[in-house]
Amino acid sequence: MSYAHTEVAQIAAISSNRCIGKDNELPWHISADLQHFKKMTTKANGDAIQGIVIMGRKTFESMGSKPLPKRVSFIISSQLDYAEQKGLVGKNNAHVVHNLDDALTQAASLAHGAHLDTIWVIGGERVFSDALMYTDRIELTHVDIEIPAGDAFYPELPSDFETSVESEQMHDEKSDLDFRFVTYMKKSDK
Ligand SMILES: NC(=O)c1ccc[n+]([C@@H]2O[C@H](COP(=O)([O-])OP(=O)(O)OC[C@H]3O[C@@H](n4cnc5c(N)ncnc54)[C@H](OP(=O)(O)O)[C@@H]3O)[C@@H](O)[C@H]2O)c1
Repeated sequence: MSYAHTEVAQIAAISSNRCIGKDNELPWHISADLQHFKKMTTKANGDAIQGIVIMGRKTFESMGSKPLPKRVSFIISSQLDYAEQKGLVGKNNAHVVHNLDDALTQAASLAHGAHLDTIWVIGGERVFSDALMYTDRIELTHVDIEIPAGDAFYPELPSDFETSVESEQMHDEKSDLDFRFVTYMKKSDK
């Protein structure tokens, strides 16, 4: 589908029961996955913006209410004074918007100006779900663990997504967890 000719991609790490979060934190710490996230969402781009991400208010707060380095963050909240609350007024690396359409429109316009091909949807549950209809590519880290009492989940993939690339199973020594990276692409309409 894409949005204003810009690729929309989602990136998430999900458990075997599709959990992405618990108590507004990630349910695991896998250093290689955090590096994967950074690598995917950041692209060398001279002095220009290196990446554009869209996230819900709780995901922003789960990362310490700080915009991601080198990237521009669009934070969605229904609270009209949220930018003031968080000292984000006038910042050029973080913009508070009040619905997904505004996030996608402004992110796509910025991407166009900055010569970036992709805008990244980085969570959480509602934003992933609402953005699926605009999404071309999904990068999932499948973490081989069941999270019994999670409170945020990744949606089921629509049937028009297919596996494009799949890594081997990897192992994180510190957490003793197995995981693998999978790229899903939306099937072309043609
Ligand atoms: N595993 C992963 O890859 C991954 C990725 C991201 C997040 N997470 C985890 O997921 C959890 C946070 O996600 P979440 O699902 O609870 O929350 P979230 O989607 O990050 O944030 C929800 C909030 O975003 C705002 N929002 C979202 N869509 C909106 C819309 N269309 N219009 C207006 N406001 C909208 C609302 O903020 P207001 O209440 O201010 O109106 C809503 O309460 C944390 O545990 C985090 O660690 C995991």
